[in-house]
Amino acid sequence: MLEMARAAMDKAYAPYSRFQVGAVIRGANGKLYAGCNVENAAYPQGCCAEASAISAMVMDGETEIIEVTVMGGGDALVTPCGGCRQRIREFSTDDVLIHICGPEGVRKSVTLGALLPLSFGPDNLKD
Ligand code: THU
Repeated sequence: MLEMARAAMDKAYAPYSRFQVGAVIRGANGKLYAGCNVENAAYPQGCCAEASAISAMVMDGETEIIEVTVMGGGDALVTPCGGCRQRIREFSTDDVLIHICGPEGVRKSVTLGALLPLSFGPDNLKD
């Protein structure tokens, strides 16, 4: 996963923030799905690496996440933004691990439940 995240990070299109991020998702089918951030001159239209990886997963017919790796530069932890926590939640349970990485490797692993407690998810819409 780390190697794939590094490769995804290198592909990021981030001419505005210059902050490259790579994400890799392991689906329940065992396959890995990578994504990078894709920014836009109309800033809010930019897309996070996690969102790109989720799109790749869903396009492949998988809708269950087993674990997530996110990799970015700088000294601070590159934790998924609030919107991406909810995007990951759609396809994950609270115990899914999110590995926060720098280019050198894993810096911290946290559960989705810790990042997004008391979350609203698909079950809330069931009868
Ligand atoms: N970004 C991600 O792709 N994922 C994260 O987890 C944090 C932030 C991107 C969005 C934007 O392109 C750049 O990093 C700076 O915020």
